[in-house]
Amino acid sequence: MSPTGAVITGWGSALPDTVVTNAQLEARLDTTDEWIVTRSGIRERRIGGTVSSLATDAGRRALECAGLAPDQVDLLVLATCTPDLAVPATSAAVHYALGLSGGAFDVNAACAGFVYALVAAHGAVSSGAAHRVLLVGADCVSLLTDPDDRATAVLFADGAAAVVLEASDLDGLLAVDLGVDGSAHDLLTCAHGGYMQMEGKEVFRRAVRITVDSATNALERAKLTPDDVALFVPHQANLRIIEAAASRLGIPMERVAVVVDRMGNTSSASIPLALADAADAGRLGPGDRVLMSGFGAGMAWASTLVRWTVDTGGR
Ligand code: ACO
Repeated sequence: MSPTGAVITGWGSALPDTVVTNAQLEARLDTTDEWIVTRSGIRERRIGGTVSSLATDAGRRALECAGLAPDQVDLLVLATCTPDLAVPATSAAVHYALGLSGGAFDVNAACAGFVYALVAAHGAVSSGAAHRVLLVGADCVSLLTDPDDRATAVLFADGAAAVVLEASDLDGLLAVDLGVDGSAHDLLTCAHGGYMQMEGKEVFRRAVRITVDSATNALERAKLTPDDVALFVPHQANLRIIEAAASRLGIPMERVAVVVDRMGNTSSASIPLALADAADAGRLGPGDRVLMSGFGAGMAWASTLVRWTVDTGGR
């Protein structure tokens, strides 16, 4: 029988070269480093590039990490809510730039997008539609952010990160929780040609509750407890949201991946960026259970428990 499970075998990330510090924002907006750090935990962020260029760079690094040639990939899934163009899907440009085989499609579930894309990629492997999937989360949220709006310009940023998912006898996807509350869709919006509008306080309030509930559902489905989690990788919107959610789940911050201080909120890219950062730092080993949890515009959420199989210590 052919394998129907799938495991992560490679990862990679790509950030724009331009670093924007809080001091630089302080110089042009009615804000302070102290306000930004206290309210969000963000100290600097990267701005620039396009979704296709960042996704291509991150994807190439993930393929190198997995030891795969581009034509060995059967499917590309790109999570993004800031596609380069309305049509066609940005994944088509990334597929061409990397020289991949098979199909490609975009997923838009905002900051929950990467986990939704992981579930879709896993389904493609289980059904036999693909054996090796390149899965990328990439966003240039700065393009949708009014540079003069202090409420959003200090938070959002750009970046991409990718993983390779390969068919395996061992299944790496232990549990999933997906949901959306469309009655709250107007809390965070961006009209065509417009800028991001956000009811920050209400989003914050819901974010903590949703993250905790969704992560708990995934843990229960996997018959695991927070003590079983080697690394919690939450969406990187705000350090206070991350700390509050981790504390309510009972996961100490030593076992939480945090990049929001250096990268800001990169939406679909934030979970894979935090995962790749932890893997690059050698924080993951075979058998580790990784809990990923995203929430965002929609309001959509998605959590998953993944069994890690790669020794990152030697990389
Ligand atoms: N600098 C200084 N003051 C500011 C700034 C700023 N950059 N931004 C807002 N303020 C002011 C406000 O105008 C307000 O002033 P007022 O009291 O005179 O009206 C005051 O600071 C407090 O504003 P709040 O919005 O109440 O501040 P809060 O502590 O809630 O923090 C924040 C704001 C950081 C936006 C927080 O609410 C948050 O992180 N919310 C969640 C955002 C989020 O996660 N969004 C992404 C979802 S994911 C996705 O899909 C994209």
